[in-house]
Amino acid sequence: DIPVITIDGPTASGKGTLADETAKALGFAVLDSGALYRVTGLAARRAGLNLDDGHAVAAIVPTLKLGFRDGHVFLGEEDVSARLRAEATGLLASQVAVHPPVRQALHDLQLSFRRLPGLVADGRDMGTALFPGADLKVFLTASAATRAERRHKQLISKGISANITSLREDLEARDERDKNRSASPLEPAQDALLLDNSDLSIEESVTQVLDWWQQ
Ligand code: CDP
Repeated sequence: DIPVITIDGPTASGKGTLADETAKALGFAVLDSGALYRVTGLAARRAGLNLDDGHAVAAIVPTLKLGFRDGHVFLGEEDVSARLRAEATGLLASQVAVHPPVRQALHDLQLSFRRLPGLVADGRDMGTALFPGADLKVFLTASAATRAERRHKQLISKGISANITSLREDLEARDERDKNRSASPLEPAQDALLLDNSDLSIEESVTQVLDWWQQ
């Protein structure tokens, strides 16, 4: 069996960085499932679809010419990586992610990332819906204040101006939507280990996950 580590948690909890660093340490592949919801939301918006119509949005998933190269995501020939990280795209992602047909349409694509020597999968439902038999499940949390600060720093470092109060409001709104939807709501798997990284450095979080992995 190909080993899997799942890292689930709310927005801006540091899942992506933790997943990347853990995968690097172990030589594993990474699944950034949020990027798939983001690219779906972006493509649906560009196609002028009604984002409340789950079947219409799900229908475009198999038509997307997705490419994954060197940590970048391509839609056809276009490198959409920067566009995907925008807050506005995160909101589109959380809007389309509420629909069961959309989640179903992305299901097999997500499973296809599993390959030797192993996979680190990051998202909301990796340990619950996608990889229920994962070898290690981590549920990552951090306070809303910490998460807003981190997102703020991230944007500023990219030269994007941002307001910390509105960032916090945005991420709390997104958390509410993710927690309260009926399809794969954001919640820890029963066998997940909880990691609150509010006061931990990235290195300390990675060390914790690697310790759990080796146990
Ligand atoms: O980086 P951040 O946590 O802000 O977002 P993300 O992981 O890229 O996910 C963007 C949105 O996609 C989330 O707010 C969820 O609504 C949705 N999502 C999901 O429903 N299931 C996943 N496995 C991953 C993301």
